[in-house]
Amino acid sequence: MIARMATNPLPQFPPGFLWGVSTSAHQIEGAADRRGASVWDAFTAEPGRVKDGSTAAVACDHYHRYREDVALLRDLGVDAYRFSVSWPRVNSPGGLDFYDRLVDALREAGVRPVPTLFHWDLPLELDWLDRDTASRFAEYVSAVVTRLGDRVDKWITLNEPAEHTLLGHALGAHAPGERLLFDALPVAHHQLLAHGLAVRALRAGGAVDIGIANSHGPTWAASDRPEDVAAADFYDVLLNRLFADPLLLGSYPEGIADLLPGDVPADLEVIAEPLDWYGINYYQPTKVGAPEGAEIEFGGLTLPAELPFTVRELEGYPVTDFGWPVVPEALTELLTGFAERYGDRLPPVVVTENGCSYEGLDDQERIAFLDGHVRALHRASEAGVDVRGYFVWSLLDNFEWAEGYARRFGLVHVDRDTLERTPKASYQWLRDALRARG
Ligand code: BGC
Repeated sequence: MIARMATNPLPQFPPGFLWGVSTSAHQIEGAADRRGASVWDAFTAEPGRVKDGSTAAVACDHYHRYREDVALLRDLGVDAYRFSVSWPRVNSPGGLDFYDRLVDALREAGVRPVPTLFHWDLPLELDWLDRDTASRFAEYVSAVVTRLGDRVDKWITLNEPAEHTLLGHALGAHAPGERLLFDALPVAHHQLLAHGLAVRALRAGGAVDIGIANSHGPTWAASDRPEDVAAADFYDVLLNRLFADPLLLGSYPEGIADLLPGDVPADLEVIAEPLDWYGINYYQPTKVGAPEGAEIEFGGLTLPAELPFTVRELEGYPVTDFGWPVVPEALTELLTGFAERYGDRLPPVVVTENGCSYEGLDDQERIAFLDGHVRALHRASEAGVDVRGYFVWSLLDNFEWAEGYARRFGLVHVDRDTLERTPKASYQWLRDALRARG
């Protein structure tokens, strides 16, 4: 497999295309004693919330080992590194110093720093149900851009507000562990408002290249039956349109605005602040059918009977160790579908996350996964979608939220006892492929 790849390097994307890898603060940094608490600290402290009972108090200890990790990035040869800034750390004395050091080390290594300003680790004293959290976010973003803006020239506001709303506030599977179902909608709105205010704060601080990392995926109806198609359309609104329409069109999908608090038209003006690029995290498509009147277990989630849809197993595809179907062609479909839906309102697209969990150092399945998805991305580019980058999730095996350390998404293996880093076959493959690009 490796030999085949060596003679068959990465497809050619337009000049300026960014190859990168992604991580997030809570999942890798550790050094929990050097920052304030986040909703994830409180969540993981509750018995039964995280499968293996682990916490991110140490994680990959990236806070102390960042130099070694930057060396891994340099040797990998990526153009850019997407990491997140921990809001609770920035709120603590000296917290920004760490990001100062990290950004300097990355620049010295020739790797472009691309910070995400919120990747789910909300300071414990805050709550997205509270509208004021959006303004607090903008204040924090101002502090970060003031400090790092002279050395950072590409920014991401939020990571996956959809998952944070759905898993954290609607279904209770992630922090803060609320199970509000549709009453969680204000959480989505307040994060989007926070995004818009953050774009303004970043621009006021001189930033020029601003995007978001939203998670999206095609929604496939379980059959042609009208009830299944309607359920799939509804799910498409929840996962895709609820988070993309306000940003790109300045409006919510029909029926949503009436359910939201506040002066929604005024907020939408803020939310729709023009973006320089649009980040998409893609993992898998979802098969959706009509409700069946019963609670279902899916992918570790308990979906209540009252939801107007059910999520079904997608059969006929290989699956990762997480059980997620591997469907690279759905990435092409997603991107061409986005370009069709949003037309010239869609700015250039960057895939800000794509990856898979597999065990083992000789991770040939990960190589096949990444190769397949990069080629699917290239097909979208050839079909006319303005694609500007691809970031692998993730550099390191890390704290995979409610799954604890059981899922390994890294190009680099991290030993849970010694924290020793060992590059996997996929790391070597990507490094060779990036070198072969010239
Ligand atoms: C998140 C990451 C997570 C990855 C794999 C994305 O939803 O942004 O934090 O580790 O998926 O589950």
